[in-house]
Amino acid sequence: MRAASDSAASVTGQQDPGVEGDRDGHGSGDVSAGSLGARRPGRDLCEIADLDLAETCALLSAARALIPLAAGDGPRRSDCLAGAQVLSLFAEPSTRTRLSFEVAARRLGAQVVDFQHDAASSAAKGETELDALRNLDAMGFDAIVVRDRRDGYPGWLCSQLRARVINAGDGAHEHPTQALLDALTILEAFDREPVPGAMTGLRVAICGDLRHGRVGRSNLRLLRTLGAELVIAGPGELAPATLAAEFEVELAPNLDAALEGAHVAMMLRIQRERLPASLQLPDDASYHSAWGLSERRLERLARGGVVLHPGPMNRGVEIADAVADGPRSRVLRQVTLGGAVRMAVLARACGVPLVQTIADTGATR
Ligand code: CP
Repeated sequence: MRAASDSAASVTGQQDPGVEGDRDGHGSGDVSAGSLGARRPGRDLCEIADLDLAETCALLSAARALIPLAAGDGPRRSDCLAGAQVLSLFAEPSTRTRLSFEVAARRLGAQVVDFQHDAASSAAKGETELDALRNLDAMGFDAIVVRDRRDGYPGWLCSQLRARVINAGDGAHEHPTQALLDALTILEAFDREPVPGAMTGLRVAICGDLRHGRVGRSNLRLLRTLGAELVIAGPGELAPATLAAEFEVELAPNLDAALEGAHVAMMLRIQRERLPASLQLPDDASYHSAWGLSERRLERLARGGVVLHPGPMNRGVEIADAVADGPRSRVLRQVTLGGAVRMAVLARACGVPLVQTIADTGATR
């Protein structure tokens, strides 16, 4: 298990053999998450700030139109990305995001190739990761979907590769497509249009481990942009006051207070893979008692309030079985809408206008 201070390091971190610019022999300079001037507007998606409000609404609108294709209950396939090649580069475990991108790309007619810079590749013969990726880039991939434990790594790749870069989760930094699919799920649940101010009057409680998680950060940025009222809650170091101050959101003293009147309870798992060894956490039963979403606690939500969880869930820890599988849960709907969001994001990365994507898929909304 890595310490949080390691995982939160930028890709210039000394701990990461083979990923520094100098070590790769390319002299990349400062590649931290805070120096992402290399991104190409309208194509790369490395963090929520890459989207302005108009583009956010256009993406959500396109994704909404693509839901039947994503859900498999409309047209089965489109050719609007026929001929496009997508490189899937997942260096951290994933079930939903990796497969969701892959299915989304295939349903739009694109081809997907997986790559792992591991012992089965020429890494075994001493090739650096960056050299490998530059060689793959020379094969003409249109887009690269990247998950990595290093904060800022996808943003740095934008300065190194011709292919457009989509961040599928980088360390504790951001997970922009998760936030987009969460937003789409909330808009659908409350019958709101994807327009500026769409979430005005909606209170969203984001609860659990915000400090070591990327989903919370991307959501705090995106949902605020759309007008939501935000409150965070979690045990001490997992939801620190500094984070609430950074994002200028309310910090609730406990879970019950956070849930009171909330329209959305977004539950986040403890990011155990990113916790410092020194951090003491209660056992699962104690955590659930204090910070887990139970059926009883659901009563605090506003009328019609819904439950989101990005997955993977730790049942009986941050969320009870009865809640995860209950009528207020939108957990599986998030996954379906995630496919639609990723179709829209892939089309944008490949330079296909969203309106054309919608028209080509036969979607009507
Ligand atoms: N929500 C999410 O990122 O899930 P995976 O880690 O399974 O991709």
